[in-house]
Amino acid sequence: MAKKDSIQQTIQLYTTEDWSISKADFPKNIQLFFSAEEKEFFVSAEENSVQYFIGFGKKISTANLLDIGKSFSYKYRKSLLAQKLVIKNELTDDELEAFIIGLFQGTYQYPFKNEHPFWSSDFEIETSKQDKKTINAIIKDAKALCVGQFAGMDWLNKPANQKKVDDISSFLKEISKKYKLKYKAYNREESIKKGLGAFVAVNQGSAMDAAFTILEYQSSKKSAPTIGLVGKCVLFDTGGISIKPSANLHYMKSDMGGASAVIGALIYAAEMQLPINIVAVLPITDNAVSEKAYLPSDVVKAYNGKTIEIIDTDAEGRLTLADGLSYITKNYKLDHLIDLATLTGSSVRMFGNTCGAYFCNDEQLNQKLQSSSEKSQNRIWNLPLWDVWKSEITSDVADFKNISLKPVGDCIVAAKFLEQFINDHPSWAHLDIAGVAYGNVEYAKDKAATGYGVHLLAQLFKTYN
Ligand code: BES
Ligand code: MG
Ligand code: ZN
Repeated sequence: MAKKDSIQQTIQLYTTEDWSISKADFPKNIQLFFSAEEKEFFVSAEENSVQYFIGFGKKISTANLLDIGKSFSYKYRKSLLAQKLVIKNELTDDELEAFIIGLFQGTYQYPFKNEHPFWSSDFEIETSKQDKKTINAIIKDAKALCVGQFAGMDWLNKPANQKKVDDISSFLKEISKKYKLKYKAYNREESIKKGLGAFVAVNQGSAMDAAFTILEYQSSKKSAPTIGLVGKCVLFDTGGISIKPSANLHYMKSDMGGASAVIGALIYAAEMQLPINIVAVLPITDNAVSEKAYLPSDVVKAYNGKTIEIIDTDAEGRLTLADGLSYITKNYKLDHLIDLATLTGSSVRMFGNTCGAYFCNDEQLNQKLQSSSEKSQNRIWNLPLWDVWKSEITSDVADFKNISLKPVGDCIVAAKFLEQFINDHPSWAHLDIAGVAYGNVEYAKDKAATGYGVHLLAQLFKTYN
């Protein structure tokens, strides 16, 4: 039998049109069994070679290269070899990057153990168009992206009893040490003293202490821009006293999808030593039911001094973010501010798993995010922040109430609510990722983490290179 490393391992990508022209050069069996439909795979193995044929249907684009690359590497994780992989096609650098990122993204399984052959140090890629240096730079970037993204996904996928506040705090301390990040966290008592009243309201019913956490990555570059990130980190959302129905309640372990994206992006930036600064705020708590839990009708005071009437304790994410946003804008000078949150069922009803519901008050940031979205295939769709929505959250007993009393547009109402806590920051974006952070994925039978958001932020960071 041939030794594994003497087996030539190749990939060939075909559109149906290209295949109809090229197939005559191949043996009959391949002509018969492969037709290059989108996402069609065919393997032809011989004594000394294994050829993977991958179908792309109508055309090969950066969008389907990412998606199909991901599927391919997951599907063939058992047969792919940890050695050289030759890509026969002439792809542009951008196309090759999308394909390689796809290949690495497809290596995830929960919990991540980097057992896939692509993580072996013997794995390399060869193309006829790119030199070794270009390819290795793409691979390094793809790996850094996945190291970050997979860490975030692992946390999202953990069951509720394995992601208590102390567990995730230990992890955040560990990565802070590893990547030389600044780490600071306020527990419940300290949060009360700091005036983080909206965050504390959500935490007060919890059996666990709070951890309002601030992480900072600083580049050595002098003029580096500073990006503020706030991630919703509700470790489990029971709804609180306004308790949720029991069907699908187990999915509420996924209410930290915003934090997963932020953690992933931070790790990516640190792995790549990017020339940007990042301040990340994660208000960590769960939303529990207990005799100490906050009540509908309570009036609480946020960090920026504004008071909020609680109508529904299940609209807790916007309370934790209100303090996250007030805190970060009051204490840091940020060029851009972005928050990510599994915030509303309304966004899920609107867009399902097709895109993040997205809001932005700055055209320059909008341009950057739109092109990052295109490159990462982390789709976003822009919704309005019109002032007409503000009347939905006026209260008789406080500055605002935490939900509207009309059953419409809660996704927009929530965004409008958050806008009241950004200290008029001129470059803010809000991403409601409730429908996209957690869902149907190839690597799991039930819904699981998608990794949404990390690649989007990574592409944004790269615009500062
Ligand atoms: N965490 C939920 C939002 C959510 C819903 C995330 C579905 C993932 C999937 C949020 O805290 C919540 O409970 N929102 C309520 C708000 C309502 C009470 C106004 C909702 O959307 O039902
Ligand atoms: Mg809730
Ligand atoms: Zn929630």
